[in-house]
Amino acid sequence: FNVPIPVNEPIFGYAPGSKERELLAAALAEARSKQGDIPMYIGGKPVHTDTKGKVTPPHDHQHILAHYSIGNKTHVQQAIDAALAAKAQWENLAWEQRASIFLKIADLISGPYRYKLNAATMLGQSKNAYQSEIDAICELADFLRFNVDYMAQIYQQQPPVSPKGVWNRVEQRPLEGFVFALTPFNFTAIAANLPTSAALMGNVVVWKPADTQIYAANLLMEIFIEAGLPQGVINLIYADGPEAGEVIFNSPDFAGIHFTGSTAVFQNIWKTIGTNIHKYKTYPRIVGETGGKDFILIHGSADAEVSSTAIIRGAFEYQGQKCSAASRVYIAKSLWPEIKKLMLRDLATFKMGGTEDFGNFINAVIDERSFDKLSKYIDQAKADEGVEIIAGGNYDKSKGWFIEPTVLVVQDAKYTTMCEELFGPVLTVFVYDDNDFEQILEVIDTTSVYALTGAVIAQDRYAIEQATIALRNAAGNFYINDKCTGAVVGQQPFGGARGSGTNDKAGSMINLMRWVSPRTIKESF
Ligand code: NAD
Ligand code: ALA
Repeated sequence: FNVPIPVNEPIFGYAPGSKERELLAAALAEARSKQGDIPMYIGGKPVHTDTKGKVTPPHDHQHILAHYSIGNKTHVQQAIDAALAAKAQWENLAWEQRASIFLKIADLISGPYRYKLNAATMLGQSKNAYQSEIDAICELADFLRFNVDYMAQIYQQQPPVSPKGVWNRVEQRPLEGFVFALTPFNFTAIAANLPTSAALMGNVVVWKPADTQIYAANLLMEIFIEAGLPQGVINLIYADGPEAGEVIFNSPDFAGIHFTGSTAVFQNIWKTIGTNIHKYKTYPRIVGETGGKDFILIHGSADAEVSSTAIIRGAFEYQGQKCSAASRVYIAKSLWPEIKKLMLRDLATFKMGGTEDFGNFINAVIDERSFDKLSKYIDQAKADEGVEIIAGGNYDKSKGWFIEPTVLVVQDAKYTTMCEELFGPVLTVFVYDDNDFEQILEVIDTTSVYALTGAVIAQDRYAIEQATIALRNAAGNFYINDKCTGAVVGQQPFGGARGSGTNDKAGSMINLMRWVSPRTIKESF
C-alpha cells in the first residue's frame, strides 16, 4: 500500500548492567532534578496561566516534578477555534504528507526520546521500566505505524463497481468540525493514540488528558511539534473535565469524541451529547473504551504453573491498573491448593516501592482517590464473613499511594469485589467444584456487566470450546491459555462491548473508519 510495512517495536529489556538501563537511570535522575513548568498548547503555541496544578510521582507524593497551567472555559474555546482555523489546510494535505509526520513521531519516540518518555511515564504514572517500555514506547510506536498502514488501506480501497458510462467513487472525508480526545491516566500509548488517530484521518483535535498523565502528555506534544505537526491540528488543554465538557459539548462544531476512561464518565458524556444533539451540524461520532471487570477461568484440566503466572501477571502488573487487568478469578477446586502455593511463592518475591529502583515490581496506585477507594474495599473484606485474605491486605500512604498486592478468596461468586471495577492490585478468587464448570460459565456471563477481556486456561479442548461459546459476549478480547492483558497492536485489536465500550478496536481499520465521513460520487458520461 505504498507505506512502510509496519513491524512491532522491539522491547528493550533494561537488564542490570546494560547501557539501556544506564541511560534510563540518567533520564530519571535528570527529570527528578528539575521542576518543570508545563504549558497548554493552543494553535501550536505554549499557553501559560496563573492557575497551577502540581505533578508529583504517585510513589513519592511530596516531590514536585512540575507545575502545569490549568485552563478555563475561554482556553477551551480558544482550542476549538485554533482547531477549526487549522482544518482546511490540514484536511486538504495529501494523506502521504500526514502519514509522514506520524511515522516520524514513532521514530522519535522509539529513538532519541525513548528514555525521556519512559522516565516521564515511570515518574508521572508510577510504572516500572518494563511496564513503561511496553506502553509509552512499543505500544505507542505500534499504534502510529500500524495506523498509517490501515489509513493507506482505507484510502486505497477497491472502488465501487462502475458500469459503462459511469464512474462511481467514494471519497473518505474527515468529519465536519473538530474531534475531542478525552484520555485516561493509565496508558501513555492510549492517551497519544486517541488524538493522533483522529488527526491522521485529516481531523483537527482538542485533547484533554487526565490530570495524572499530564507529565508525559506534555512531552508527547513537544515531540508532535518537533515532528512537524502543523499548528492547531492537535490542541492540548488541561482543565477540569466537566468545565471543558460544557464548552465542547455545546459547540455546533463538535463532530466526535474519542474517549478512554471510566464507564460512568462516558455514560454521562453520552447523555450530554444526546441532550445537545439539536445543536450540532452533524451527528457526532461517539467512540469510547471504558471500564472492565476482567476474568480468568481455570478449568480442572489446566496447567497449574501456566494458570498461576497468568493470574499473577494479569492481576498485578502495573498495580492492576490496566483496563484489561484480571480482577476476578474462578478456579477449579482440584487445582486450587497447587495454584495457591505457586501464587504465594511468586507474590513473596515481589518488591514494592518507587519506579527509580528497577527491582520494584509493584509501584504506587495513581492517586489518593484511588488509594482511598481500594483501602476501603480491603477494610470491608477484612470485616466481611466469608472472605479470606490470603495475601497482602496492607496499605501505606506516608510516602506514596502504596497498596500491597492483595488476594481475597470469597465464598460467594457474586461478592462485591467479584462484580465491581476496583482498578488496583486487589484480586478476588472464587473456587468452584470441578463438576460445576457449566454453572460457572453461566455465573461469569451473567455477572459480566463489563465485557473487556477474559481468559480460559485449560488443556481439555471440549472445555475450551464450551467456554469460548458460552462467554462470547463477555469479553471483546478473549484469551486461551494466556493472561488477559498485553494485547499487541497489529496482533490483537483491542476493545470491549457491554459496559466496556463501543468496541471500535483501538489500533484497527474499524477505529480509523470512525474518523471519516465518506462521500459517494457518481459521475455519468
Ligand atoms: P476517568 O473516567 O476518571 O477519566 C478519563 C478522562 O475523562 C480524564 O481526562 C478525565 O479528566 C476526564 N473526566 C473525568 N470526569 C469527567 C467529566 N465529568 N466530564 C468530562 N471529562 C471528565 O478515567 P481514568 O481514571 O483516567 O482511567 C481509568 C478508567 O479508564 C478505568 O475505568 C479503565 O477501565 C478505563 N480504561 C479503559 C480502557 C479500554 O480500552 N477499555 C483503557 C484504559 C482505561
Ligand atoms: N494493550 C493493553 C492491554 O491489553 C490495554 O493490556
